[in-house]
Amino acid sequence: MPKIKVALIGVGNCASAFVQGLQYYGKSEKKEDYTGLRNPSLGGLAPIDIQIVAAFDVNDRKVGKDLAEAIFAMPNNAPKVAEVPSTNIVVNKGPLLDGVGKATRNVVQISNTPDSDVAKILKEAEAEIVVNLLPSGATEASQWYAEQALAAGCAFVNATPNFIASDAAWAKRFEEAGLPLAGDDLVDQVGSTALHKTLLRLLSMNGVRITETYQLDVGGGTESLDTLDRTRDAKRAIKTQSVASSLPYKTEVVAGSTDYVDFLLNKRDSYFWISGVYFCNAPMQIDLKFSTVDAPNAGSVLFDIVRAMKIALNKKLKGAILPVCAYAFKRPPAWVRWRARQMLPLETAEETFKRFIMENT
Ligand SMILES: NC(=O)c1ccc[n+]([C@@H]2O[C@H](COP(=O)([O-])OP(=O)(O)OC[C@H]3O[C@@H](n4cnc5c(N)ncnc54)[C@H](O)[C@@H]3O)[C@@H](O)[C@H]2O)c1
Repeated sequence: MPKIKVALIGVGNCASAFVQGLQYYGKSEKKEDYTGLRNPSLGGLAPIDIQIVAAFDVNDRKVGKDLAEAIFAMPNNAPKVAEVPSTNIVVNKGPLLDGVGKATRNVVQISNTPDSDVAKILKEAEAEIVVNLLPSGATEASQWYAEQALAAGCAFVNATPNFIASDAAWAKRFEEAGLPLAGDDLVDQVGSTALHKTLLRLLSMNGVRITETYQLDVGGGTESLDTLDRTRDAKRAIKTQSVASSLPYKTEVVAGSTDYVDFLLNKRDSYFWISGVYFCNAPMQIDLKFSTVDAPNAGSVLFDIVRAMKIALNKKLKGAILPVCAYAFKRPPAWVRWRARQMLPLETAEETFKRFIMENT
């Protein structure tokens, strides 16, 4: 079976979880070995079919190193769950652009190795799918790498909250190039947004009128530091819109990352507050804390996305692949959203994705 050839842009915590996950699940044979994966097999493809063929970063501790070493270099703090043997993939230097913000400049030493020719490396490595795992504030750099994917004839997955798949002009460019595109802003496997939406939907289906709700996070990964500095407002807008879409009426909703606490390392604590009324105006409240580790939360979803994108490539599908965007991203293209402020309900997105896989394999 030919491998799914993936290039990683940014060898940070998510990349670490992804690479370790490939090792962790690579030799799985029995059903129990796949515990923790949403889809052990997708359209006949297993994690073992995914192969990383190129990686790019700007951090001096990562550039020039084998990927197996770079994923554990500072400031990465995703937990080590697998011994990753040498991969023979050396991390290439990408152009810095706006990749490192004010807050993270103190923790990322920029390599002075000359920038590599990214499109050329992608072509030589025969990369099929470029996965953008840059910091959320890297708007210009994300667009630059999307250009490189186009130039190299690769599909593009945008895990960041920068608007690429949800931007009609970018979607059109990938469509014209005959290449698939998916984004924006990855949905976590056990994410606070999905949990919040599910709780609100359950309550409103039972006749509860939610009067106000918020969900706030604290995290200790580099991404939380970057978010605090550069993308707090944008992330908050995406999350709030997504959460509000789960209710059939307007109410007071706030959802978004709030702060950075270094000693949490790659952990994330999410706080939920929900207040509402039910029968004869009786009050109800939920006050909840939910703790996760950030980077592994992206692993299973990324495995699903790259396998779905391979299926899209095999079928020569082009432009934003809507069932993948709706299933795996917080901000899919506008035409996936219902009415002005609504998105596909989680179950509908899941069904649409499963149907897409079945119909195309
Ligand atoms: N569960 C999750 O972790 C999750 C969920 C949803 C979305 N995301 C998104 O995924 C992205 C990656 O998250 P992360 O936690 O791995 O971030 P991170 O900060 O740990 O990693 C980013 C990496 O990009 C590198 N980089 C910066 N500028 C670069 C450039 N110009 N060229 C190449 N590399 C460059 C950094 O050195 C770093 O290694 C973020 O945008 C985040 O919002 C993550």
